[in-house]
Amino acid sequence: MLSLLAATILSLCFHACSDSPRPNAADGERWYSLHRCNGCHGEGGSDGKAAELAGTDLGFRSFLAIVRSPESPSMPAYPPEKLSSQDTADIHLWLQSIQQ
Ligand code: HEC
Repeated sequence: MLSLLAATILSLCFHACSDSPRPNAADGERWYSLHRCNGCHGEGGSDGKAAELAGTDLGFRSFLAIVRSPESPSMPAYPPEKLSSQDTADIHLWLQSIQQ
């Protein structure tokens, strides 16, 4: 019983005390429209002019690298002062969560 309590406290602290905020998919959906990703990649991450992003296989690091400096000249770069890593993580999580 005592060890269960200790484990609970430890896991609460793991979430609350960790430096990296956890991504939030609902926020991601908002950032995605706010930053106009939908204009090229489509509402819901698909059926746009540019690559389909819904259900992306890209890991977060690759995703962030593309957002910071896109390979395609048609996509604008989003520096940290425009789109924070936290907000990018939210968008990434939301896109991953979309069922195809
Ligand atoms: C002006 C149009 C435009 C906007 C706005 C835009 N993109 Fe893109 N994006 C592109 C194009 C073009 C590509 C290259 C792939 C292609 O030609 O479809 C691309 C590629 C990507 C890729 C790589 C896809 C892959 O599978 O290789 C990611 C990830 C991405 N965009 C994310 C975003 C995010 C997140 C936003 C909003 C913060 C955004 N893009 C806004 C046009 C755009």
